[in-house]
Amino acid sequence: MSPESYMMSLGYSAKDHQGAVKAPIFQTSTFAFHTAEEGKAFFEIAYGLREKREGEELGMIYSRVDNPNMHMLEQRLAVWDNAEAGAFFSSGMAAITTTVFTFVRPGDLFVYASPVYGGTDHFFNHVLPQFGIKVVKFFPGETEIEILKRIETEAPGMKPAMIYIETPGNPINSLIDLEMVRDMADGFTSFERECLMVVDNTFLGPVFQHPMKFGADLVVYSATKFIGGHSDVIAGACVGSSALIGQIKAMRTFFGSQIDPNSAWLLMRSLETLKIRMEQQSRSAVEIAQYLLSHNMVSELHYLGFLEKGSDQERIYQKQCEAPGSMIAFNIKGGEKEAFAFLNNLELFKLAVSLGSTESLAEHPATMTHVDVAPEDRDRLGISPNLIRLSIGLENPGDLILKIEKALEKAEETYLNNQKLEHSF
Ligand SMILES: Cc1ncc(COP(=O)(O)O)c(C=O)c1O
Repeated sequence: MSPESYMMSLGYSAKDHQGAVKAPIFQTSTFAFHTAEEGKAFFEIAYGLREKREGEELGMIYSRVDNPNMHMLEQRLAVWDNAEAGAFFSSGMAAITTTVFTFVRPGDLFVYASPVYGGTDHFFNHVLPQFGIKVVKFFPGETEIEILKRIETEAPGMKPAMIYIETPGNPINSLIDLEMVRDMADGFTSFERECLMVVDNTFLGPVFQHPMKFGADLVVYSATKFIGGHSDVIAGACVGSSALIGQIKAMRTFFGSQIDPNSAWLLMRSLETLKIRMEQQSRSAVEIAQYLLSHNMVSELHYLGFLEKGSDQERIYQKQCEAPGSMIAFNIKGGEKEAFAFLNNLELFKLAVSLGSTESLAEHPATMTHVDVAPEDRDRLGISPNLIRLSIGLENPGDLILKIEKALEKAEETYLNNQKLEHSF
């Protein structure tokens, strides 16, 4: 069956819950054991004191370790990525930080592709070094040889414990070749130490991109975005092999970074409509991007549906992405003033950060989500003062275009006034 067919029932039996078609919310912190012996057995397994016996069924202990809502949700998300297991967290950042700290130790080298989400960027550049972790970044468009040279120059003789990429990258949809990263991670893997490949799949996943097919060891998500899809939950996730996810869950137990039962229940509801939401949002985004492409106030468009034919980015898109998705970024003619004029006059969209929700959102990466990105990297990453990022929701695309048209008119007035002022000096 296809993943969407599992979303209404996997891991849940109505007959065990008085016929309730929907799973209840297991709003409980702790679980009663039938006997002391059973409690002892659960703890032995939870702490890895012994292996699970043949046919032994483990029950719940405490909701920081596991909870029926979290458990069902994890099984269901794993289906989309064809992964053995999944783990849910209280936020996307909790998923990322718990995953990194499970495998990367003081003295290790950590390599990532820039750009990444601003919060992730801050964690990599300002938090990891405080733990004695050496961080090296590379950029979209660099070849494998150039990246390897960069690593050798910046961290001579070191092999990364992890290579982390976000593709498409926030905010301008820059793509990184997953197979190239797999090849590098294999090259760094030795008998003593594995180099793990981790992919943030928030922008297109889990419906339109499947990084594990291209060799990713772990895939992380801000489930706050498309997976949640209604701007009413903060959550994160990671999927991968049972062995790796098992280690991450052990770390999660001690960090206490797990999702709560109520949020897990909301996300189970969201997963039921995930595919139709993402498909419709992507269809609407194509229409809107097409409109932007033809507008004289738009100087550059960054949308996966309209990549330059024959470019390296298009080659990567054709190989690893299954649809362009609903994130659009564009440069407006002018600078911050024109960008703000557009945002301040844009109706129907909410002027807010975040993405992937039923309502359309607009924001200004240079002063909002990516304000903390190193100034020397901004130009290279295209995070300029005239860049605007849109997340297309489920409103009628024709209505959204009308509102964009109006806001672009206002931005054009600002642009023309600025030009006049400049010429009058
Ligand atoms: C691509 C990406 N990854 C991770 C995160 C962090 O997720 P959260 O806000 O759920 O902690 C975000 C948030 O915007 C994001 O856009």
